Amino acid sequence: MTEETIKTEALMSEKRVFNPPKKIAENANIVDWEAALKRGEEDLEGFWEDAAKELEWFGKWDKVLDDSGKPFYKWFTGAKCNIVHNALDRHIKTPLKGKVAIIAEAEDGKVRKFTYAQLHKEVCKFANVLKSLGIKKGDRVAIYMPNIPEIAIAMLATVKIGAIHSVVFAGYGEGALKIRIEDAEAKIIVCADGVGRGGKKINLKDTVDKAVAQCPAIKKTIVVKNAGLDVDMANCAWYHELMETASDKCETERMDSEDILYILYTSGTTGKPKGVIHVHGGYMVGVNRTLRWVFDIKPQDIFWCAADPGWVTGHSYIVYGPLLAGTTTLMYEGHPTYPDPGRMWDIIERHSVTILYTAPTMIRMLMGLGDEWPKKHDLNTLRLLGSVGEPINPEAWMWYYKNVGGERCPIMDTWWQTETGMFMLTPTPQTPLKPGSATKPFPGVQAKIVDNDGKEVETGKGGHLAITTPWPAMLRTVYKNPERYKKTYWQEVPGGMYISGDIARKDEDGYFWVQGRSDDVLKIAGHRIGTAEIESAFVSHKAVAEAAVIGIPDEVKGETGKAFVILKKGFAGNAELVEDLKKHVRKELGPLAIIDSIKFVGSLPKTRSGKIMRRVLKARELGLDEGDTSALVD
Ligand code: PRX
Repeated sequence: MTEETIKTEALMSEKRVFNPPKKIAENANIVDWEAALKRGEEDLEGFWEDAAKELEWFGKWDKVLDDSGKPFYKWFTGAKCNIVHNALDRHIKTPLKGKVAIIAEAEDGKVRKFTYAQLHKEVCKFANVLKSLGIKKGDRVAIYMPNIPEIAIAMLATVKIGAIHSVVFAGYGEGALKIRIEDAEAKIIVCADGVGRGGKKINLKDTVDKAVAQCPAIKKTIVVKNAGLDVDMANCAWYHELMETASDKCETERMDSEDILYILYTSGTTGKPKGVIHVHGGYMVGVNRTLRWVFDIKPQDIFWCAADPGWVTGHSYIVYGPLLAGTTTLMYEGHPTYPDPGRMWDIIERHSVTILYTAPTMIRMLMGLGDEWPKKHDLNTLRLLGSVGEPINPEAWMWYYKNVGGERCPIMDTWWQTETGMFMLTPTPQTPLKPGSATKPFPGVQAKIVDNDGKEVETGKGGHLAITTPWPAMLRTVYKNPERYKKTYWQEVPGGMYISGDIARKDEDGYFWVQGRSDDVLKIAGHRIGTAEIESAFVSHKAVAEAAVIGIPDEVKGETGKAFVILKKGFAGNAELVEDLKKHVRKELGPLAIIDSIKFVGSLPKTRSGKIMRRVLKARELGLDEGDTSALVD
């Protein structure tokens, strides 16, 4: 039995069912979940066309779905729109203009609030700043910033003028940042001097300077003064100085529905990350409909998605989704347990948060710190909870349900990906819940579990989680690499389905149980990081000849990395080198690439064609069956 089978069987043995409270189910935005599922199945295009009609368009579509060039699907073709028009412009003509759009809390407790009208002005101003620096429709703007309102302003301003943002998570190191700036050929980078975390000020500008020094396409670095650090400003401009003289009026660019909205890089099975492309029209329709139905956005809600804007979760459900839905989105810049493990509960209490959406890693960490912390705070404003990023184990689910939700808040376990743009498998406030299962596909989404031949497998059996019909917020391609798009997502198994790269099972009630990745991608604290990327960071160290990285289960973080390293001649594998290698990988990739241990070896298990068999390394490490090893060189 493999480690995977053991894990999923433990999850699927979970039989408890939790029905959502009647009051929540009866008043939900989704009127009838079962009927919506049926409608989505019978009339996919009609279902999504209705969702599109909830938004404003500058010009209507000729076709809802164009599948003539599949798998390069197009949605709402011929339509004109701009997501920023729907997220901001249209709201300021309504009473929403005075409503708080963003609540931002810094680690030192400083709170800033922006109404929709204020946010609109800031976005117009920064859009004019970008224009004055020569940014035009279609240009790429790189953004490397912590969880502060200026990141949202920079994203929205870029998009307002028809340019494309490429946000890089500000925890990435210089190597990872450089590769992303280069691939996107960004002309400008917007960053912050630093970020406050865990009582310290972390310098981000140094990392940016080192990356930019290797990226000649960057014409200017714009710096938000956030941490008050003394930074080198050669060929840089302060954000606040540029904003001082900028006009607060700026037209929103009329875009084609299929024009690129943003690029967001995600790790794959090669060392080079994939630039996932999302577009204006379909993305806004998918994100708006899923957020309103799953998290049931009501006028009085304060929505806290405790992710980072640098990941897709933040793009879709900190920035775009909440603003499209006209709700209040909360951004917290600091560490979740600073100055004490009650910080998150304190934020919920002080800001009367009604919906909390976070990751299993966070829940497990907070669970480990003890029940007394949530108990110290009044969490009664909470109405709904959410989970994302990795499978949630029933124990963590129960803790979250009882200690945070007071047994009255349904948990929306949402399965989705950078590539899907929106929730794909998810409950709604009307769905009976099973701890550990993301339940069923969202209405208008069809999923199956298939084997390597593309055939649906029996109930209870594991297989590839495949999406069998297109959906509006789907990625359109991989930036500058349409072949990789086709190969990675559509040709992995026959049948023309989208293959997610996840392994899952379906139970007798049609509920999906996602187990994890089927490829060489680790999930560390819910973050996707390719073993190939970590290996190439190792190999870029002068002492390393070859490296193989595998994921090792971790109770809190889900997984951490273990590296097997072959050294070059003349280098000794001692404790000092271990530390140096860890530091090197951290510098290249950032602190998210957690390498728990490093083992120096003389050889690595390889196939005859020279491919490292990480599966074998992992099985040996965990004491599991090595499976078929006939391809292995002795
Ligand atoms: O393995 C699945 C896991 O996260 C992967 C997508 O990672 P990323 O593109 O970084 O996006 C994360 C946030 C949307 C998936 O292939 N995953 C995400 N949500 C869940 C999950 N696994 C189980 N349950 C989930 N709810």
